[in-house]
Amino acid sequence: MNFTDGLFITFEGIDGSGKSTQSQLLYDALNDLGISVIQTREPGGSIGAEIIRSLLVSGDTDRWSAETEILLFTAARRDHLEKTIQPALTKNQIVICDRFVDSTRVYQGVARADLRQTVDELHSIIIKKEPDITFIIDTDPEKSLTRGLARNSGEDRFEEFGLEFQKKLRNGFSELSKTEKSRCHLINGMRSKEEVSNDILNIVKDYAK
Ligand code: ADP
Ligand code: TYD
Repeated sequence: MNFTDGLFITFEGIDGSGKSTQSQLLYDALNDLGISVIQTREPGGSIGAEIIRSLLVSGDTDRWSAETEILLFTAARRDHLEKTIQPALTKNQIVICDRFVDSTRVYQGVARADLRQTVDELHSIIIKKEPDITFIIDTDPEKSLTRGLARNSGEDRFEEFGLEFQKKLRNGFSELSKTEKSRCHLINGMRSKEEVSNDILNIVKDYAK
């Protein structure tokens, strides 16, 4: 593989769909190939953004409105972009990021409220950056919700919105994969971790040819 420019890869999907598992497996595979790569996540990925994360992922479901969430996620994203993502891309590294703006488009723009236009407008002013490749891990909401809640992470505010919310998210991500065909790959996540990660690595290798 030949990467001369940085490459920005994101993982998206409903809660518990296997994003962090797959971003770790991709990171390990690229690292083994001797490629310079970093792994990061949202909300978080920089000191300031991790502080904002703790406000977002815990507490009652009605702690923030969808509008306030858009502002908080975007503030965290701006700090993450400035401090972590852009510096790595400038050094021609591959950046693997667990969630990015597509999560805001679907969680706040579709599932929490009908605010997709607000999300896109704010993104175009404050963030501007889109990923080069996005993997949307598609899984059954019932199974993923059980897996996610079983982690007992104390970061379950969005899981607490329930199964119907996870179903809306799945549809939202599936629709997004159709409108953003050039960068989004909808991946069947209901297979073994290894089968899923092989598909993903092959797509990255093809992109870099
Ligand atoms: P996410 O980051 O999307 O919330 P995780 O990667 O943390 O999801 O996975 C949630 C749980 O499901 C973890 O316990 C993980 O080990 C498990 N898991 C991930 N991928 C698979 C898979 N393909 N098959 C079965 N279990 C999986
Ligand atoms: P994450 O830690 O990735 O959760 P999980 O491992 O359960 O998938 O993200 C925390 C939560 O924040 C998750 O439920 C999705 C939500 N979220 C949004 O609602 N909007 C966003 O823009 C982002 C980045 C995350």
